[in-house]
Amino acid sequence: MGRFITFEGIDGSGKSTQARLLAEALGAQGIDVVLTREPGGSPGADEIRRLVLEGDPDRWSAETEILLFTAARRDHLERLIAPALRDGKVVICDRYADSTRMYQGLSRGDLRAQVDALHALMIGREPDLTLLIDMDPAKGLARAKGRQGHEERFEDFGLELQQKMRAGFLALAGEVPARFRIVDGDKPPEEVAREVMAHAQEELRR
Ligand code: TYD
Repeated sequence: MGRFITFEGIDGSGKSTQARLLAEALGAQGIDVVLTREPGGSPGADEIRRLVLEGDPDRWSAETEILLFTAARRDHLERLIAPALRDGKVVICDRYADSTRMYQGLSRGDLRAQVDALHALMIGREPDLTLLIDMDPAKGLARAKGRQGHEERFEDFGLELQQKMRAGFLALAGEVPARFRIVDGDKPPEEVAREVMAHAQEELRR
């Protein structure tokens, strides 16, 4: 039935690099891997990505963002994730529903209940394993700022939000310890990659 592995963490935590390294390492072992990311991951979801990440950051209310991110996720799940899992592949996704729980659920008031309700109604699939790349928000922010492009990212909201997101992710990991593994992202990337690989292999043996 395949395995669904997600990476989560604050902006600049290095999770995208780690997702790629894990995909390469598993691929080198002959495992059939699909590497994808959110928001986006399918043509329809990529169109929604442009709506949520480009233009004025205040373009959408938090409630509308919940709907847009969830719509993108639904398309991504239908078209890419679910078929790949049915084919027995390992799907590695850079951000997934936990990002909506944090960014839309916590950043502008407490909307976590709405996020969870919509997830239950329209998505209903949790990852088998979530790797939380935890790191010092000041370092993450400096890293994220260094590669800023045309997308209006949430790191523009500053250090305070990043601290709130980090605390939120750690609390979430505590709520669902069965699928979460916390990895210290302040360590050198090769060491982070080794830990990530060990957790993934443990999941694949199950
Ligand atoms: P991404 O391109 O993954 O940026 P990064 O490489 O810095 O992680 O994500 C872009 C932004 O989208 C990021 O600031 C987090 C945000 N986001 C949400 O607000 N809600 C969501 O559900 C997802 C998936 C991402």
